[in-house]
Amino acid sequence: MRNKTTVILLLVCIALLAFTANNYFLITQNDVTLKIPKGFPKPYYKFKNNTLSPEVFVLGRKLFYDPILSKDSTISCASCHQRIAAFAHFDHPLSHGINGLIGKRNVPALQNLIWQDTYMWDGGVNNLEVQPINPLTNPVEMNESLEHVIEKLRLNEMYAAEFKIAFNDTAITSERILKALAQFTGLMISADSRYDRYIDGKDTFSTSEKNGLALFRKKCASCHEEPLFTDNSYRNNGLKPDPSLNDKGRGAITGLEFDEYKFKVPSLRNIERSYPYMHDGRFRKLKDVLDHYSSPGNFAPNTAREMYEIGKLSEPDKKDIIAFLLTLTDNTFLYDRRFIDPFMQ
Ligand code: HEC
Ligand code: HEC
Repeated sequence: MRNKTTVILLLVCIALLAFTANNYFLITQNDVTLKIPKGFPKPYYKFKNNTLSPEVFVLGRKLFYDPILSKDSTISCASCHQRIAAFAHFDHPLSHGINGLIGKRNVPALQNLIWQDTYMWDGGVNNLEVQPINPLTNPVEMNESLEHVIEKLRLNEMYAAEFKIAFNDTAITSERILKALAQFTGLMISADSRYDRYIDGKDTFSTSEKNGLALFRKKCASCHEEPLFTDNSYRNNGLKPDPSLNDKGRGAITGLEFDEYKFKVPSLRNIERSYPYMHDGRFRKLKDVLDHYSSPGNFAPNTAREMYEIGKLSEPDKKDIIAFLLTLTDNTFLYDRRFIDPFMQ
């Protein structure tokens, strides 16, 4: 009799565990409701004609993590955009794509994308929904075509079912693929760092962090504007161009000499995790970045005026600015279960 009760109890426990394990990762309507963080402006991308839903988000997440999007099924978006690096890529300066081919730029972090009016280091793309076509078709990234991806997805039973659940019919189209990806990347919002809590009066800063913030506001914030830490502009911040890459940045898009070697001002949120730094990943450490700003080596005629005004930074000043930058690490975002690889769950 006792044995029977134990067995029944055990079975109930297993069933409960299985239920919670399954539902722990369940994405709910609340998980995909767009909440504009306090103090943030209105976003540019408003999910217009792309109504946020748990099913479409989950489909977008699957596509983001699935190497099926690349020609030989080896590279997914997440191969280059690693969650734990704020969706940038640790360790190598230039991106690595299909067949080990090396791209010409550093993988940027993906966060607060709906507040960007343009994408890429040179702003070559101006719509979040269109952006994935770029890596998908780039011969050194995924080297695929949308038509072929659609063909592959149509042959895949799991996706046939997922598209049906997400869009209420079985059609697999490029528009739906792109919309689903935009729901996933568009909801990558980072706004809960220690900095955010400090601004909100919910956390305190050390003297060094406070001093760092004051210095930052004086010397850096004109470009790295709070709360997004970018003003979405293109600037030449005094980096010497790397002749082996000869990347003209914004100039290659606008065709204007005045824009040559200008790059998008990147956000500095989660900067602790998204090393190496700059469009070509030339700096490994924040200290290297501060050394650069303290003595910008290359003053081209279009180098931003602000670069002349930063002046020499003392070693304690550099330390304080770095201490402040580290408060921008947002563990709520970095460990957000909504963004975990669904194939690993
Ligand atoms: C081979 C590496 C690689 C792959 C694969 C890749 N990306 Fe990227 N991604 C990059 C690089 C490098 C850039 C910057 C490109 C540039 O500036 O020209 C970038 C830029 C972006 C941006 C713009 C970010 C910004 O702040 O401007 C978004 C969004 C993005 N990728 C999403 C994706 C999605 C979605 C996929 C999958 C469909 C994907 N990426 C696949 C390397 C990659
Ligand atoms: C004139 C505008 C401007 C000012 C002022 C400025 N920056 Fe930047 N910052 C940029 C631009 C543009 C880039 C990207 C340059 C590139 O990759 O070629 C950048 C890149 C960075 C990066 C690398 C980010 C990444 O994701 O790779 C860090 C860190 C940084 N800046 C910190 C600072 C700090 C700290 C200050 C103040 C001491 C400062 N910046 C002042 C424009 C500016």
